Amino acid sequence: MILVTGGAGFIGSNFVLDWLAHSDEPVLNLDALTYAGNLHNLDSLRGDPRHVFVHGDICDRALLDRLLAAHRPRAIVHFAAESHVDRSIHGPAAFIRTNVQGTFTLLEAARTHWQALPADEQAAFRFLHVSTDEVYGSLGPQDPAFTESHPYQPNSPYSASKAASDHLVRAWFHTYGLPVLTTNCSNNYGPYHFPEKLIPLMIVNALAGKPLPVYGDGSNVRDWLYVKDHCSAIRTVLARGRVGETYNVGGCNEMTNLEIVRTVCALLDELRPDPAGPYSRLITFVKDRPGHDRRYAIDARKIERELGWRPAETFATGIRKTVQWYLDHPQWVAQVQSGAYREWMATQYPSAHAKVA
Ligand code: NAD
Ligand code: TYD
Repeated sequence: MILVTGGAGFIGSNFVLDWLAHSDEPVLNLDALTYAGNLHNLDSLRGDPRHVFVHGDICDRALLDRLLAAHRPRAIVHFAAESHVDRSIHGPAAFIRTNVQGTFTLLEAARTHWQALPADEQAAFRFLHVSTDEVYGSLGPQDPAFTESHPYQPNSPYSASKAASDHLVRAWFHTYGLPVLTTNCSNNYGPYHFPEKLIPLMIVNALAGKPLPVYGDGSNVRDWLYVKDHCSAIRTVLARGRVGETYNVGGCNEMTNLEIVRTVCALLDELRPDPAGPYSRLITFVKDRPGHDRRYAIDARKIERELGWRPAETFATGIRKTVQWYLDHPQWVAQVQSGAYREWMATQYPSAHAKVA
């Protein structure tokens, strides 16, 4: 089996669903169920013996040791993180704890486990660390896109904590030989995206007739990738990536935030017209995010050249699927917004380790 950390979050839950749609290899899913973790994302796997969920923290070394000894995963795919830049500005401590201390603890547990494996299992073992393009800092309008050798220049507490975790992963390869892989991906969007991030926030606010807050002048640029394309990239790197290497993953979809919000509004005008008028009437420019990076752009030629991966979706196809998914899942949105899912989880998993095998 494989061990997935953070498999109840946005990308992690998409990955678990995608993995089990392509393979019968079981997934051990370790997630602390913070505000961003939502087991309803995995409702379709209820009763499926290929999915084993464990409510626990990657900072808990004893738990990690027990899980690795009991399940002997052949690979670890590490998504668990604090992931929201705005939250990192208001409360960086949780980002240092999970992203730095948590990755360190997981690396140490993985190293102990890996060193005790027989030689053939040691050679096949992989630790895949999922990271972000934000570690490279901010680009000017004419700068070339980030390659894997771009200097690390993180600007937010979030990106600094992810950069620190990337450095730890690199060091565990060079110092101990742990067979690691790192992926640095651009902004994802798609189903199960928590509505505090740009695209889902705009969809749910528009449907509720609330303002659509655009930071600054809306001209900051991101490179958007449909989440299922990110999942296929991770499967590809896990299967065929060269140990110790990093791979940039992007969607070749650079757009300004204002373009993104206008696209969402236009799709909603088509799919769920509002009698009060076009949704773009709700666009509201608000105070900019402190230290707001101007532009991210990924050069994904290495993963294409070496591993043959390319995104399947264009932004036009991916955003249409995403808006349609939110229109089709009002109950998921309502649960996330009401906090009802957290109450449900408190009943299901009253204490950490409750489900530890
Ligand atoms: P998310 O915030 O939606 O999910 C994070 C998950 O990790 C949640 O389920 C949460 O409960 C869990 N978690 C948090 N702290 C934990 C801990 N201490 N122990 C165990 N589990 C814990 O994040 P996401 O958007 O799905 O991002 C997943 C990964 O991908 C992160 O490492 C992030 O840095 C990276 N990434 C995200 C994006 C993006 O656009 N969302 C882009 C590039 C890279
Ligand atoms: P976000 O989804 O938080 O991702 P990240 O900061 O990791 O790129 O934000 C994407 C972009 O959208 C970023 O430039 C900030 C901007 N933004 C807004 O303009 N308004 C919002 O309400 C949010 C959440 C983000």
